[in-house]
Amino acid sequence: MKLQVILGAVYVIFMCSMITTSSSYNVACYFASWSVYRDEGGKFDVFNIDPHLCTHVYFAFLEMYDDGRLLIFDSYEANGTEDGGHYDGFRNFANLKNVNPELKTLISIGGWNAGSKNFSIICADPVKRQRLVQESIKLMETYNFDGFDIDWEYPTLRDDAHPEDKENFVELLKDYSAALKPKGLLLSAALAAAVDKIESSYFVEQVSEYLDILNIMTYDYHGAFDNFVGHVAPLHASPLDYEHGRNATYTVATAVDYWIYKNADPSKINMGLAAYGRTFTLKDKANTQLYAPVLGAGPKGRYTRMDGTLGYNEICQYYSGTDSIYYWDDDQKVPHRVVDDTWIGYEDEISIGLKVDFAVSKGLGGVMIWSLDTDDFLGTCGRKYRLLNVVNDRLKYWESQEKKLKFECFYKYML
Ligand SMILES: *[C@@H]1O[C@H](CO)[C@@H](O)[C@H](O)[C@H]1NC(C)=O
Ligand SMILES: *[C@@H]1O[C@H](CO)[C@@H](O)[C@H](O)[C@H]1NC(C)=O
Ligand SMILES: *[C@@H]1O[C@H](CO)[C@@H](O)[C@H](O)[C@H]1NC(C)=O
Repeated sequence: MKLQVILGAVYVIFMCSMITTSSSYNVACYFASWSVYRDEGGKFDVFNIDPHLCTHVYFAFLEMYDDGRLLIFDSYEANGTEDGGHYDGFRNFANLKNVNPELKTLISIGGWNAGSKNFSIICADPVKRQRLVQESIKLMETYNFDGFDIDWEYPTLRDDAHPEDKENFVELLKDYSAALKPKGLLLSAALAAAVDKIESSYFVEQVSEYLDILNIMTYDYHGAFDNFVGHVAPLHASPLDYEHGRNATYTVATAVDYWIYKNADPSKINMGLAAYGRTFTLKDKANTQLYAPVLGAGPKGRYTRMDGTLGYNEICQYYSGTDSIYYWDDDQKVPHRVVDDTWIGYEDEISIGLKVDFAVSKGLGGVMIWSLDTDDFLGTCGRKYRLLNVVNDRLKYWESQEKKLKFECFYKYML
């Protein structure tokens, strides 16, 4: 009888503890370090980071020479004091932990502009791989960073395709993991989010095994690289995707499901969120629906200065007035704005909240945001860091729901 009671109690404790797997969710935040050179209002430096709104912060980007040495191409921003500049970004970045000791600081190498070539060369050669790993460790130890992030866009794609990249990327992760794990340093990567790219670039199971963190870049599904209107990050497909003969794989939900289907560990996945929009110039002002033909990219933003993209801060400041019309696409669960012949697909509080809910529903580790410097970090349109605050609010809500469920579970069976 006594044994049965004990066994019963053990069973309840076990079952109730199964209710939640992660007691707190990741909020992985990228800092695009070149934003320090933007005009006043858009200029963003390390001290603009709020260390309480992120669990992980990423300093982007470093590059590498093709022999495997690290390339700090903006030493003025990164390690300025040493070479006479004055930003000293690395030091200030590491010091964010003085404000929030729980925060993890990571350095990111690669990015879109770094291309694929040097990654291909280094990863194909065990000596060069080791050099990169050792240099990365040296940097982390010098500045007391917590981890390294690899943003190779993308193995086997761009800059002359090398089919062996797919295998060699795993070799790189294996080398990094073997060296970082014993030192308690984190290994992270930014990874593609289109089914065709996932297929060509990754042996998903091995990638997931060696990495501690998988940041899936679930955005840039559409932009001025297309000749028609589409949203930067549709959560789900639109019926128009099918009507236009596009299979509906270019969505956030499909990407997340596909990584999991290919056996990535969901608890290691952070789902990417874009704190920016992608814009188009419409061919015909009267035709604003998805797949409407376009002339090209929409105009540059005041701070970000890139054709076809606008920071959320630029959208909320310059396009939220009465001269633009807000639309909500209830199939894709995302908003867009049209002002004159400019079409802007972006994220707002509603779409970001729904994406966070989706990430939670899939049992993911959390979310990632690209990037801090285009959220409304000054609070020009209202609440400071509006998007990132919505992310934190939603995750806190889900964390408290899980705690409540767990408590109710014990209460129901034990008392
Ligand atoms: C690639 O490596 C070469 C040779 O080491 C270097 O000159 C170049 O800047 C590197 N490219 C990038 C994008 O880092
Ligand atoms: C700072 O950057 C410069 C230029 O890349 C490099 O030569 C120097 O060694 C760096 N210093 C440290 C401490 O990382
Ligand atoms: C869906 O689209 C992707 C990317 O364009 C393509 O590789 C794939 O073959 C398509 N699948 C189907 C069933 O049409």
